Amino acid sequence: MIETLIDIAYLVAASFFIFGMKRLQSPATARQGNRLSAIAMFIAVLATMFVADILTPVEMLIGVVLGGGIGLLLARRVELTSMPELVGALNGFGGLASALVAGAELSRYLTNDSSAQASTLAIADFDPSVGITILLSVLIGVVTFSGSFIAVGKLSGKISGNPISFPGMRLLTLLLAAGAIGAFVMVVMNYSTILSEPDPILWSLVGMAGIAFFLGILLVIPIGGADMPVVVALLNSYSGLAAAATGFVLDNTALIVSGALVGASGLILTKIMCDAMNRSLLNVLLGGFGGDADDSMVSSASQDGKSINQTSADDVAIMLSYADQVVVVPGYGMAVAQAQHQVRELADLLQSKGVRVKYAIHPVAGRMPGHMNVLLAEANVPYDQLYEMDDINGDFDNTDVSLIIGANDVVNPAARHDKASPIYGMPILNVDNSRNVIVLKRSMRPGYSGVQNELFFNDNTRMLFGDAKDSISSLTEEVKLV
Ligand code: TAP
Repeated sequence: MIETLIDIAYLVAASFFIFGMKRLQSPATARQGNRLSAIAMFIAVLATMFVADILTPVEMLIGVVLGGGIGLLLARRVELTSMPELVGALNGFGGLASALVAGAELSRYLTNDSSAQASTLAIADFDPSVGITILLSVLIGVVTFSGSFIAVGKLSGKISGNPISFPGMRLLTLLLAAGAIGAFVMVVMNYSTILSEPDPILWSLVGMAGIAFFLGILLVIPIGGADMPVVVALLNSYSGLAAAATGFVLDNTALIVSGALVGASGLILTKIMCDAMNRSLLNVLLGGFGGDADDSMVSSASQDGKSINQTSADDVAIMLSYADQVVVVPGYGMAVAQAQHQVRELADLLQSKGVRVKYAIHPVAGRMPGHMNVLLAEANVPYDQLYEMDDINGDFDNTDVSLIIGANDVVNPAARHDKASPIYGMPILNVDNSRNVIVLKRSMRPGYSGVQNELFFNDNTRMLFGDAKDSISSLTEEVKLV
């Protein structure tokens, strides 16, 4: 009876997960989707507390309270700009948890201790399929763990964002991968001797986990800092696969379904991001794209001798006030400056003066998918003023002013024509087609890809230097005076 109820609860949770994810597709329903998915997770956790064949409900409750408390604290404290790091760390812990649970499950087959009888499993049930799923879970889980924490280090600047490599690195990676596969095969081939001779099997498992740890590091360090969001999405997918494998090991439907959903959605997200940058996944993993900016790029003269035009808040205010159409292009700098509320205030003011204001959203603006949508939703910008890249690109010809707020790579025209540029081929917002372009940033430092932006040197571009929040506030004050 209790098993049936648990299965029904898992079914309800799985359906809520799917409907919740569907609702995440649009900014208008995203909050609802998030709530639905949280309720689904609550139901799944609650139902699991009645599966009392390993831990008692009280022990599980302690885990839930501890984990939930840490999660709550982190979620309240984390800045939105650090969200990719948090997601990366959660993926890493997810991978480690899957590996540990699967490893512990193997030890239950090996325990002969009669005092632990309740938690031991019949060795007759240990067939190759159980062995393979345990191994997969440990292998993918540990790669996800170490890879994710390298990604977190790169995102937070604690590890250099430059691609890191050394002579023979690819060969070493291949050898480690071969070693991991060898240890994997060794365990599967010898599963029948697990009771009489457990040591070789256990050591192979530990060896495989050790190799997987270094493999995770070697797979992520050669990837450039600019591609870390893609790596985080890919590792998210791995953590889902590890969880699904652990679900098979434990015969837990909720874990299989949620792991498969995370695995599939992480992979889809990875593909969407690669498409948005017009790059293949292989190019992301092996391309060594982006890195820490070098000071030679922080110059106000372009390579062909052109220089930038600087402007002031009062000049821009006049331009904005007399425009028919203004397109706001937010980027990572708006997130850093937390300028979204000031942007909304300026847009409202311009609209009250009869100016048409639109927002152009590039799919990889910022540091995570939907980053700009989340920020603008927080400032209650109406969704119907938000335009995706393909919908707005044809409209820049009719735009008097494109107001670039902390965006850089996503508006670099070099992506369209300069085959030597590392961002060549990435679809961009064609802001250079508008009559005037105003760029709000603090300096001439390049964006995340580390390349200088030729837009800044165009004749119709003016630079307004300063923190985006301060610059927008000054603009609003000046527009009020016009
Ligand atoms: P970026 O090209 O990274 O440029 C951000 C700009 O904001 C910088 O040039 C910076 O210049 C400026 N900035 C920083 N803090 C500021 C502040 N307080 N006030 C004003 N300006 C500030 O940003 P983007 O155009 O949004 O492009 C996103 C990049 O991330 C792309 O390279 C994209 O490929 C990569 N990426 C994103 C994703 C996702 S999912 N979003 C995934 C993969 C890769 P200063 O330092 O001079 O101020």
